Amino acid sequence: MLPGYQNFDNLEMYLKRREALYRHVGLVPLLCRNRRILEFGPGAGFNSVFTACLGPSYYELVEGDHASLETLSQLMSEYSKSNTEYKIIEGLIENHFSEGTFDLVICEATIPMQENPEAILKKVSQFVAPGGILLITVCDEMSYLPEILRRLVANTIAHSSDSFEEKAASLLPYFGPHLETIEEMSRPHKHYIIDNYLQPLAGRRLFGMGQAIELLHGEFDFYACSPHFSVDWRWYKEIYEDSGRYNDLALDNYYSNLHNLMDYRIDHRIGSKDSNRSALKFAGEVYNMVVEMEDLGPNNSLIEPVLDDVLKISGMLPECAELSARSLLDFIRAYKQISRGNKDIEWGQFSSFYGHSQQFVTFLRRV
Ligand SMILES: C[S@@+](CC[C@H](N)C(=O)[O-])C[C@H]1O[C@@H](n2cnc3c(N)ncnc32)[C@H](O)[C@@H]1O
Repeated sequence: MLPGYQNFDNLEMYLKRREALYRHVGLVPLLCRNRRILEFGPGAGFNSVFTACLGPSYYELVEGDHASLETLSQLMSEYSKSNTEYKIIEGLIENHFSEGTFDLVICEATIPMQENPEAILKKVSQFVAPGGILLITVCDEMSYLPEILRRLVANTIAHSSDSFEEKAASLLPYFGPHLETIEEMSRPHKHYIIDNYLQPLAGRRLFGMGQAIELLHGEFDFYACSPHFSVDWRWYKEIYEDSGRYNDLALDNYYSNLHNLMDYRIDHRIGSKDSNRSALKFAGEVYNMVVEMEDLGPNNSLIEPVLDDVLKISGMLPECAELSARSLLDFIRAYKQISRGNKDIEWGQFSSFYGHSQQFVTFLRRV
């Protein structure tokens, strides 16, 4: 299936969802109409359709995957407005050159899972005009923890000699009931399992909001994010000092909300920045060990430290995230049942434990 596949049978619902996303990140239609927009990694362009419908004056799309280009061209020719000149370029982000800068630069679902996400973000950010907007997605090890733990289960259960299809079929009885708990899940479960638990991650790195803010700090200010959790209670007249301190405030909001990013079910209250930073560190260790086991196969010298880190994270979560803490304990118990060869696993709260694995963030380039 092509990257970012969307079913346009219900175009109205698709457009409403994208509009809600753009609104969350501060992109009202007027900021796109008659503007110059550059998008990196549009895939087959399913998400670019909404941007095209907003009628930019010029829309440049840079995609490295040849197989995606045909659908991308079809969608752009079908949905672009008459005032829009668009250009599709087959090429790598790393090598891209454009004449001039852009009012809006988009890089969705493309920076995390690169070998060098910092270099890609730096490159992408260079094309934003002063006063322009950068829209990216980020994903850290806390928001991805529920999926990385399922990856460990997949790696333990599936036979390494099987094809992706066969592995996905053997995992379906375990993960199908988990996926059924997500109301908005529209993708076939087998595709979801292949993309999220079977595609190898070796050499690929996550890249979270904290890292993005720190990397862009010298030239950009945090603007908004989806989920829309960053709040600013300052009196507007106090903001002029220190370049507005938008980035510091966004970092504070991010670290006090990390536990909320890990579990989409919980009541969103802020927690302790220090505990969440430690939990993020342990989640990073879990990510690295699980990825290491993709090549080696499950191995007791790593399984124990993984379960130990999961236990530590569970103990660090604030009271409001009690459901997430319980889910992590349920995971440890379920994993022990799997490693004893049980087929009938009691997943407990873990079965509906999913994070906000990807967040959207916008930044404004300082003038
Ligand atoms: C996960 S897809 C996301 C597609 C689309 N942005 C979306 O949100 O549905 C990532 C896309 O980025 C492209 N991509 C990843 N790294 C790239 C690079 N270094 N240069 C050009 N394209 C790249 C991939 O080919 C793929 O189409």
